[in-house]
Amino acid sequence: MTSFTALNPGAGFTDRVNRDSFSDYSTLENTPFPSLRSGGSQGQSSPDVPSLKRVSEGGSRSPQVGDLGKVYLVGAGPGDPGLLTVKALRLLERADVVIYDALVSAPILELICPTAQRIDVGKRSGRHSLPQEETNQLLVAQAQRHKIVVRLKGGDPFIFGRGGEEMEELVAAGVEVEVVPGITAGIAAPAYVGIPLTHRHYSSSVTFVTGHESTGKYRSPVDWTAIANGAETIVIYMGVHTLPQVTVTLMEAGRSPDTAVALVRWGTRPDAEELYGTLEDIVEKVQENNFAAPAIAVIGDVVNFRHHILSMQAMGATPPMAGTCD
Ligand SMILES: C[S@@+](CC[C@H](N)C(=O)[O-])C[C@H]1O[C@@H](n2cnc3c(N)ncnc32)[C@H](O)[C@@H]1O
Repeated sequence: MTSFTALNPGAGFTDRVNRDSFSDYSTLENTPFPSLRSGGSQGQSSPDVPSLKRVSEGGSRSPQVGDLGKVYLVGAGPGDPGLLTVKALRLLERADVVIYDALVSAPILELICPTAQRIDVGKRSGRHSLPQEETNQLLVAQAQRHKIVVRLKGGDPFIFGRGGEEMEELVAAGVEVEVVPGITAGIAAPAYVGIPLTHRHYSSSVTFVTGHESTGKYRSPVDWTAIANGAETIVIYMGVHTLPQVTVTLMEAGRSPDTAVALVRWGTRPDAEELYGTLEDIVEKVQENNFAAPAIAVIGDVVNFRHHILSMQAMGATPPMAGTCD
């Protein structure tokens, strides 16, 4: 019942959170990785993020007058509201303010508490998204005004979502942060069209990679040659525009031109689109079909599993594939 408070000992507003629906969810009570804030007083240092402290269960920092609110970096999943986690849903119902990106779907935005303030920082027709630095500052400013600040991001906040950058900025400003993972598009979009990223007979390894690293946002250029030889299944985010270069590089690195490729646009949503081909012909098909971003590309034999299942269905072997958006 009170374990959420225990997990977040520095939050002076947790009574409100605990009072009703949060206390019903064992997912919250068992959260293994609690919130972070700079200079946290309890727990061991994270080996991966040395400047942060883990606040262990049973920590004892007293609530302080004037405490900042808490920012939840919440994954909204790829679009289908049925893929939202229970924890994310409860936060949307409790939020004072929700700051969201363009990839968060309309049905998920409808789940936000009607009294919560909404701030759209995503790209919309005719205008650019808010620069990351301004978004970071906005999050800090909102934590100075509100108790429960939800930063809602498409998919998972830590998979090509700049969640790490935002967390760093917030912790530097002394704001408590908690991450609520979401289902990433790279898993869900293929799953909804019947592509398992691993399968004992098709693939034992998978790599998630960005196709959009040329703008200098990412630490170092992607080593496509290593990826071509290092993983059987390759899942590319933000890869539609660079597909011409990427497919050629993969073939030059030794992947067969016949390697199967799937593109899934707006995966898990009612308006999802799919396109199938091979490393050799997918770029031509993209042009022919005016196939556009946002899409996930899956490269590897696992794409053939889908064709296998469809042919089984065509022979009347099974009912329609599960997981299709209704
Ligand atoms: C900035 S990344 C964000 C990824 C997100 N954090 C996640 O975990 O899914 C944006 C890219 O994710 C992919 N993406 C996000 N949602 C998608 C969806 N519903 N269907 C297909 N691709 C999607 C596209 O490649 C898009 O260009």
